[in-house]
Amino acid sequence: MFDPYKVREDFPILKQKINNHPLIYFDNAATTQKPRQVIEAVKEFYERYNANVHRAVHTLSHEATSLYESAHEEVAKFINAKNIEEIIFVRGTTEAINFVAYSWGLRNLNREDEVLLTLMEHHSNIVPWEILSKINGFKVKYVDVNSDGTLNYESLEDSLSRKTKIVSVTHVSNVTGCINDVKRIIKTAHEYGALVLVDGAQSVPHMPVDVKDLDVDFLAFSGHKMLAPTGIGVLYGKRELLEKMEPFHGGGEMIRNVSFDTATGRCLISWNDPPWKFEAGTPNISGGVGLMAAIKYLKSLGMENIFSHECELSEYALQRLQECHKVSFYGPKGRSTRCGIIPFNVEGFDSHDVALFLDSFGITIRSGFHCAQPLHQRLNLPSSARVSFYLYNTREEIDRFIEVLKEMEQL
Ligand SMILES: Cc1ncc(COP(=O)(O)O)c(C=O)c1O
Repeated sequence: MFDPYKVREDFPILKQKINNHPLIYFDNAATTQKPRQVIEAVKEFYERYNANVHRAVHTLSHEATSLYESAHEEVAKFINAKNIEEIIFVRGTTEAINFVAYSWGLRNLNREDEVLLTLMEHHSNIVPWEILSKINGFKVKYVDVNSDGTLNYESLEDSLSRKTKIVSVTHVSNVTGCINDVKRIIKTAHEYGALVLVDGAQSVPHMPVDVKDLDVDFLAFSGHKMLAPTGIGVLYGKRELLEKMEPFHGGGEMIRNVSFDTATGRCLISWNDPPWKFEAGTPNISGGVGLMAAIKYLKSLGMENIFSHECELSEYALQRLQECHKVSFYGPKGRSTRCGIIPFNVEGFDSHDVALFLDSFGITIRSGFHCAQPLHQRLNLPSSARVSFYLYNTREEIDRFIEVLKEMEQL
């Protein structure tokens, strides 16, 4: 049985008070708290194994390298990738998307091509493509969303053509919690010969994601949104694509050989094999170790259990929010299309005022645009307050949140 009260025991930060009230942490879409298992794994790495990886012949370096490579293996198993050659460690989702844009897009997208995004993307899945389109001259197109925040699949099919070279789409909206049917999107896009990048920042931490089952070409996600430290994230890419791609960053350890050619006066370079070909310079070794510990922790609880717990919390919160007469909330209805993220507004208050009021009671939420301004524009929202749940949240916390919102309605 999944027991959030037992889970909470592992999270030291949840025991503290904020503004003299017990902390209720509802800002999990921004970043998640860390269990002691992750904190201890990072501490143990620095106390016992710290050395640079893939360089020295000494024992400590072998141990650090072995841990760092095991972290890639753990990630590969977690998302059912073929092997670690398909797993590149990056700083997070943002870097992973920029990686694909520059490493693949820069060389493969031309003036007559199109890149297809949706209006529900996080800015990190819009800005890199818009920047690159100014360099390469391709067109960026946006699939529409419906007024309930779900993706408009008709608009998707209308927008796809043989000109579409890549569809880059979020799996779960970080604003509405809407779950996109990425399997359907991938199948349709492949029929047009387009690749698909899935932004898994809000899905991989919360539900089972299987890259083989989805047949996805690239998958991006961030460790810090799934209990791991900040500064570590993952780009999954199909081996056959990665093999053909040039590195995004150049530097040490990503090369097999660099030799000075006296005839031309230049250096001749040959690349290392994936994934190391793509990990230039000293990587975030302790971050990788922390990510491995986070995945082991998530697996010990079961991703299906975590997902159902969050869906139940979301359903409960949506039901209780109906008692708040000055509160409007948005997003899809129904369990199969929505997970534990709820955007809302309180009549007469700016979203930041709502967040500050809740914070004075120890309730931590996000306010503003959540880095998804086009979606707010499309849904006619000036901004929004947002609660987002994770494995350690409870119904009692939602009860307290509703109680405080009701107090706010009295102001
Ligand atoms: C859907 C989505 N994509 C991308 C990102 C960017 O993630 P990061 O800041 O970890 O790179 C976020 C972060 O909130 C997100 O929610």
